[in-house]
Amino acid sequence: MRDKISQIKKEYLEKIGKAKSLTDLDTIFLALFGKTGQITQIPKEFPKIPKEDLKIITPLFIATKKELEQEIDKRRQEIREESYRKLENEKLDLTQTKTIKKQGHLHLATQFKKEIIDLFESLGFSQFDAPHVEWDKYNFEYLNVPKDHPSRDLWDTLYIDTSNLAVEPGQMALRTHTSNFWPRLMEKGQTPIRAMSFDRCFRYEAVDARHSHTFNQFEIAVVGENITMANLKYLSDYLLKAILGKEAKSRFRPKYYPFVEPGVGIDSLCVFCHGKGCKICSGTGWFEIAGAGMIHPNVFKFTKLDPKKYSGLAWGFGPDRILMLKHKFDDIRYLLEGDLKFLQKF
Ligand code: DAH
Repeated sequence: MRDKISQIKKEYLEKIGKAKSLTDLDTIFLALFGKTGQITQIPKEFPKIPKEDLKIITPLFIATKKELEQEIDKRRQEIREESYRKLENEKLDLTQTKTIKKQGHLHLATQFKKEIIDLFESLGFSQFDAPHVEWDKYNFEYLNVPKDHPSRDLWDTLYIDTSNLAVEPGQMALRTHTSNFWPRLMEKGQTPIRAMSFDRCFRYEAVDARHSHTFNQFEIAVVGENITMANLKYLSDYLLKAILGKEAKSRFRPKYYPFVEPGVGIDSLCVFCHGKGCKICSGTGWFEIAGAGMIHPNVFKFTKLDPKKYSGLAWGFGPDRILMLKHKFDDIRYLLEGDLKFLQKF
């Protein structure tokens, strides 16, 4: 029995020393101390051993059992420390930087929107965004465009099919311009108004180099006492020069819009031909970029504001057109299509 215990001790101390993982050690532990383990089995033979011999064997057995247990614990500790050390060497350095070759950026139209909004915020304008799906009254009626009036022909409107709603046909449309925001603000009856909206509009238009069914407008409206055309002229120059540079040239041309009186078209000198006339400016040398004017007294009728006391100016710029001028590209479709060759230039 003594030899057997020594043999087990020798064999297992060697195995423990060679164990490479905690799983190896678990297997060894079970082989020694499990239900049928070698150490567990030994005392079962004690009744057969003479008492005299047991006096020597029992302490040997206890010492061996203890030693094997301690060796397993020791090795377990070692293996754990080894794996911690390994992990430490493998640790991720989160501060490490890697040069990313292809990085995305804001779309040209979004960059431009931010630029313009910042520009007008610094003049004290606040943003007011009206709905894209709009009631006819805000898109037309309150803007002095009555139902069935020929001036409606100025806009190719996309009406909403309301047959599923308790709404009469022709009452809802995709707004044709951002001008719908100012009757919404004016009907609240509070002055002064110094508001802007840079947002999407929709028309029933075929897409070509200069037109699209979906496009942006940058609209401002100022309502208060003593607002005049001089303010309109100042703000137009402020915008054009900020975007196109000090040399930017604009002109006001009388133009009819039902919701302003007087109404003007704001043109910018064509940057493609410097006024000579080309395909882009339809041979005129000028590029129309905005409609503007003084808010019509009839628009005040739908508000609590007295047109004798208050006046207002408004304009609707086509930012997509201004971008074409600024970056000298000749097709509005570039702004809507995700052509990377174009987008990566900006
Ligand atoms: N809403 C007009 C359009 O989309 C543009 C416009 C004209 C806006 C005159 C204005 C304005 O604010 O005063 O055709």
